[in-house]
Amino acid sequence: MIDAGQATAQQPVERPEIEVLIPADRIAARIRELGVQISQDYQNRSLRLVGVLKGAFVFLSDLLRAMDHPDITLDFLGVATYGNASQTSGEVRVTKDLDQSIEGLDVLVVEDILDSGVTFQYLLTALRNRKPASLRTATLLDKPSRRIRPVHADYVGFSIPDAFVVGYGLDFAQKYRELPYIGVLKT
Ligand code: IMP
Ligand code: MG
Repeated sequence: MIDAGQATAQQPVERPEIEVLIPADRIAARIRELGVQISQDYQNRSLRLVGVLKGAFVFLSDLLRAMDHPDITLDFLGVATYGNASQTSGEVRVTKDLDQSIEGLDVLVVEDILDSGVTFQYLLTALRNRKPASLRTATLLDKPSRRIRPVHADYVGFSIPDAFVVGYGLDFAQKYRELPYIGVLKT
């Protein structure tokens, strides 16, 4: 049976194999700041948010609710980067296309993590071809030291060192997406 009073108490979700890098309250605070900033930057314009599946869905849902903006619409793009769990092969595959055209729209792509930049560069090239009025990017995490392509994000939640991270939407072999914090997998 669910006790409404007890259910609100925060239970720490600790996993022995994971070291917390960014706790949930710091993520929430940073996303509130990003929500305010992005809302201001797109004042008086329609904004189409494009979430990149699967990893960005948690960030996108919190960012969306941190926005104070009257004209936001949402779409999703699915991509998979070939390779094993922690090393990109550089080959990007679209698993789900946008539902709607972005021609003439102000588009903000929302990603979970900017690592080598291969996925970002592929996405930006593909989306630019569809003639949006403007195209910017937001990423929760940025690993600048890993970059092999000359790309950057316009909005960055946190810059992090070169470690493989999981949680808050990010996976290792499709697992750990449910963790409310960002953590490093101990090896
Ligand atoms: P890219 O190397 O910038 O193309 O990133 C490719 C994709 O690899 C990202 O969108 C993530 O899905 C995944 N990725 C990169 N670094 C990490 C990580 O530290 N944890 C989990 N997924 C990652
Ligand atoms: Mg991803």
